[in-house]
Amino acid sequence: FAFQPGDTLYPKDENGKFIYHKTDLCATWEAMEACKDAGLAKSIGVSNFNRRQLEMILNKPGLKYKPVSNQVECHPYFTQPKLLEYCRQHDIVIVGYSPLGTSRDESWVNVSSPPLLKDPVLNAIGKKYNKTAAQVALRFGIQRGVVVIPKSFNPQRIRENFQIFDFSLTEKEMKEIEALNKNVRYVELLM
Ligand code: A2P
Repeated sequence: FAFQPGDTLYPKDENGKFIYHKTDLCATWEAMEACKDAGLAKSIGVSNFNRRQLEMILNKPGLKYKPVSNQVECHPYFTQPKLLEYCRQHDIVIVGYSPLGTSRDESWVNVSSPPLLKDPVLNAIGKKYNKTAAQVALRFGIQRGVVVIPKSFNPQRIRENFQIFDFSLTEKEMKEIEALNKNVRYVELLM
């Protein structure tokens, strides 16, 4: 979706309501294709697209480039199994945001869903490999082909988040983690 064009990122009216802008996502996609052709982008993708929206692009007459990626919330409590399968079938990489369950900032996060990194299963599996729950959650992502983009302001944790290539989770552990899915988003995008 788009907001009213202008310098304000999230424009609101006098009643505090967001001001949206009617756009045709297919026309926006064509503009992005032109950016790629102009050498302004190596690859182009989408974010927060569901299957119906992806189909709209993939079935667009005259499609020049498919989206290479779809960036969506993805982690052990929100595993996106159907969307992941659909994207696999169409060679679209899922880029998972909030792979650690967000910073739990109440201004934009649904904090009624429990903190991911306190999860007993993730912590128990981590103990076995001498890894943290964060590292297990990230490893779970990459092992199922999801690109993970964890965020940290802390140098030691940034380093920690890279140290996930020296162990692997068994099929049974992957299934155990998949079973943690609650189908609840932390990031509800209320706007
Ligand atoms: P901090 O910046 O203090 O490290 P997400 O990537 O899911 O949005 O999560 C970001 C949150 O997770 C931030 O609050 C960040 O805090 C915290 N975080 C990042 N890496 C780790 C880690 N390895 N262990 C615990 N918390 C982490």
